[in-house]
Amino acid sequence: MTPVVYLNGEFMPLQQAKVSVLDRGFLFGDGVYEVIPVYQGKVFRLKEHVQRLQRSLDATNIRLYKTEQSWGMLFEQVVAHNAPQAKELSIYVQVTRGVAEKRDHICPADIEPTLFVMATPVCISVDLDSVTGIRAITLPDNRWTRCYIKSVCLLPNILLKQQALDQGAEDVLLIRDGYVTEAAASNVFIVKNGLLQTPPKDNLILGGITRDLIVELAVQGDFQCQEKAISEAELAAADEIWVTSSTREIVPVIELNDKPVGDGNIGSMWYTVAKCFQAYKAQLAENR
Ligand code: PDD
Repeated sequence: MTPVVYLNGEFMPLQQAKVSVLDRGFLFGDGVYEVIPVYQGKVFRLKEHVQRLQRSLDATNIRLYKTEQSWGMLFEQVVAHNAPQAKELSIYVQVTRGVAEKRDHICPADIEPTLFVMATPVCISVDLDSVTGIRAITLPDNRWTRCYIKSVCLLPNILLKQQALDQGAEDVLLIRDGYVTEAAASNVFIVKNGLLQTPPKDNLILGGITRDLIVELAVQGDFQCQEKAISEAELAAADEIWVTSSTREIVPVIELNDKPVGDGNIGSMWYTVAKCFQAYKAQLAENR
């Protein structure tokens, strides 16, 4: 089945969706985006994703505003066009500053933003016993210092991830001034002596919705999570390391820089938190 996407007010088959070469997203990477999971046909954590999208739009001065309700309706329409209720999808929303008359670094004041939404099927295992850990390496975080903006300028992230793949790893954990920030497209957690820790939300990381949910679940649940700066040495000595995102949920890292993390197996805290996370998803899907 051909995917149906939304572009500037219209639904159309993916192949028909075209954007001008003068779009500032194409020329300058002048745009922001969101990635939102859809579980059992239901948009996950709509409010949080819409708030972060608005924050990115405000920070870049791209003038587009919709209420949470109208974003929700738009996403539901995209989902309805693309999948029966049971399917799991990932919604991709991109807003660029729009199409200008000519290429110019100066942002034109009065152009209409380009709004694009698509939904892609994803396959995330809810069978925790089938999850396998990944290998990661550390590399210097050479991105800019406004990482809280979910910008489409992902060239550093892409190159860092590719460097990890080229070195036989599946992900890269980024180090800035001796402290871990995040991964190429995920946040980072460590476990040390039974205590879960994650770097604080500041301008050096993207405040992940998955990350925030884990912090929230810790407040309600029977594990503790501390938001604190994590040094490279603490990372190297961690009992467990995880990376988290909307497309991958919670992924255990079992090898870092060619050394086993803890005993080299998926840790017990990962099972505890992953179970809580799945229970939360299931409950949310039932209640709505
Ligand atoms: N990326 N940090 C970065 C740099 C990211 O790109 C992402 C998500 C995250 C995790 O955020 P969340 O839990 O809200 O997905 C952290 C998305 C999935 C992407 O770029 O496709």
